[in-house]
Amino acid sequence: MKNFSAILLSWYQAHKRNLPFRETKNPYLIWLSEIIFQQTRISQGLSYYEKFSKRFPSPRALAAAQEDEVLKLWQGLGYYSRARNLHAAAKSMNGVFPRTYEGVRSLKGVGDYTAAAICSIAYDMPYAVVDGNVYRVLSRVFGIKTPIDSPAGKREFTVLAQKLLDKKYPGEYNQAIMDFGAIVCTPQVPGCKACPLAKMCIAKRENCIEKLPVKAQKTKISERFFHYIYVEQGNFVWLHKRGAGDIWQNLYELPLVETANSAKLKKAPAWCGCAKLSFLGKPVKHVLSHRVIWAQLYRVKLPPTAKVPPEFVRVKKEALEKYAIPRLVQKLLEKIL
Ligand code: ADE
Repeated sequence: MKNFSAILLSWYQAHKRNLPFRETKNPYLIWLSEIIFQQTRISQGLSYYEKFSKRFPSPRALAAAQEDEVLKLWQGLGYYSRARNLHAAAKSMNGVFPRTYEGVRSLKGVGDYTAAAICSIAYDMPYAVVDGNVYRVLSRVFGIKTPIDSPAGKREFTVLAQKLLDKKYPGEYNQAIMDFGAIVCTPQVPGCKACPLAKMCIAKRENCIEKLPVKAQKTKISERFFHYIYVEQGNFVWLHKRGAGDIWQNLYELPLVETANSAKLKKAPAWCGCAKLSFLGKPVKHVLSHRVIWAQLYRVKLPPTAKVPPEFVRVKKEALEKYAIPRLVQKLLEKIL
């Protein structure tokens, strides 16, 4: 056991990635980085970390912003509840980042993983992180076949991770196992040839690396069918701010009709006066974590005198870039603009 942690730490000293958030002990910046990199590859999230830490260098700066601005800056990164929770949490902390594990864990959007990451990295507290990398590395090296999405699996991996944690350098250790999972012990084609843990790796000995970690349930993918309508009124277009209880809460999109299947709309909906509807190209496929969205784009031209229903806002075409718009809708807009 000790061996495992010592090997991991010495691998980390030689191979760790130089990342901007590793040059600070500021808990606020470490929190920011952990929220950004939760469901995001480092290469994808780095420019967002730069933008956010520059525009909002402190909890007070973030708390003072409008949510629309925070979402706009987050645009393209996905899982937008992270941005809304980040903003809400900043507002809750009164300018001071919490200093205890319980205080950190109670922030909106902070779960066991994020609390352990922040407290170990910023405060050197002995909390082991358990994320996808940790499940993969530990299941393989220790040959654990318990499903990671079962309560028993969660318990088993959490207990083992906590046992293996280097209590003197918890932040370094946690980041070492994450980097090791991202660079060497990868999901596909892991680098076993150059792996410093190969000698003790049970999965390698039993030739079952590709089978680990075990997941009991398959992720169910559901399909949705979105019909977006580009409603044009001279130099203006209509937007809709999405509500609670579904994806993309508080982001802006084109007026939408959702249907149960892929059949195209035959006529324009009543809220745009049943005007003539024209198709714009083939449906676009957009893949999210649990669903596939098929999006079809249409265009409707309305006279300048047409009334805008209260659920829409009418904006100048040049002003579209000021709104936080999901990437799918952005892709559709690019077809037109
Ligand atoms: N993914 C999320 N946070 C990370 C960190 N601190 N180091 C490496 N990978 C990460």
